[in-house]
Amino acid sequence: MPTYPTAPVTFVRGRGSELWDDAGKRYLDFLCGLAVTSLGHAHPAVADALAEQARTLLHVSNLFATTVGPEVARTLDRLLGGGGQVFFANSGAEANECAIKLARRFGGRGRHVVVSAYGSFHGRTLATLHATGQPAKHETFQPLPEGFRHVAWEDLDALEAAVTPDVAAVLLEPVQGEGGVRPAPPAYLQGVRRLCDERGALLMLDEVQTGLGRTGAWFGFQHAGVEPDVVTMAKALGNGVPIGACWARTPVASTFEPGDHATTFGGQPLATSAARAVLAVMEAEDVPARARRQGARLGDALRALPAVTEVRGLGLLLAAELAGGTDAKAVQAECLRRGLVLNAVTPTALRLAPSLLVTDDEVDEAVDILSGVLA
Ligand SMILES: Cc1ncc(COP(=O)(O)O)c(C=O)c1O
Repeated sequence: MPTYPTAPVTFVRGRGSELWDDAGKRYLDFLCGLAVTSLGHAHPAVADALAEQARTLLHVSNLFATTVGPEVARTLDRLLGGGGQVFFANSGAEANECAIKLARRFGGRGRHVVVSAYGSFHGRTLATLHATGQPAKHETFQPLPEGFRHVAWEDLDALEAAVTPDVAAVLLEPVQGEGGVRPAPPAYLQGVRRLCDERGALLMLDEVQTGLGRTGAWFGFQHAGVEPDVVTMAKALGNGVPIGACWARTPVASTFEPGDHATTFGGQPLATSAARAVLAVMEAEDVPARARRQGARLGDALRALPAVTEVRGLGLLLAAELAGGTDAKAVQAECLRRGLVLNAVTPTALRLAPSLLVTDDEVDEAVDILSGVLA
């Protein structure tokens, strides 16, 4: 269906930070399928895990127990600080749907509203679309499910006014990704946590784009030292294999009862075997430290470009704001022509989200290409 514009390139193969198109041309991938292939393309550990699991057991449904999903859930719980439970889904939107339903279950009748921020992105299902604080995206699909309220980003006073007794949860991204790569100041997240505690609302963090090392911590909220009640993730968890997860503190998670929520594919052995391999490599390679190191290298190099006025973001989720109203889409297209994949996250800013295993040489090569285009 015509939901996407015509694609400029057809990719047929990838390895690490490199991609090749159907004419054999090589590209450097500094977008990673929108922050998904955090270990690069065709990572051998993930490929081997998938092949092995495909020969062993793909799927039996959640009517029966399997062994890989619970193992992955335990690893995620440990990385999140412990004391929680996980529901596996197949995408970021589905992970957020689970969080929204959990908030309603926890809040009970009369307490079902989810407050989120303008500029946010939480998915394209009807509920997550309404949670997404971009009214222009809502109009075509009205009426949307009831029970969503939006407040200005980084505005604690606005949030204070919005968290009334009918609010079950506040849902925020630690870094607004699609909204232009805008990190939440730690003091803001700490203030949101205090407000949620005072009002009895859940703090739910959407880490679909930021989770699993990308920002230089396992999860974006860890930069602010807050403890959320619910965390959702997806993109990097399968390194390209579709999988999402919703984690919640056990007292919250345990308000769900059998029959409240379900999925045919979520948590199946194939997707969770990819996630198990991804997490093992991520821990062995200490990807948060790599993201911090290479994020500093990339950020410094971008800041040194005369045509870049601001670099924002955390770790290896960065945006470069272009000087003088330069059309970021035109820069994106010319970079692609010269073999660099990145994207225009706003009309005047480029988003860079390379593999967390990106090398010094690859960072330097990417900045050289961008510098040539901007010059
Ligand atoms: C923060 C955030 N939440 C949710 C989503 C939706 O994820 P999916 O496209 O897997 O449904 C995205 C996708 O970009 C995202 O960045």
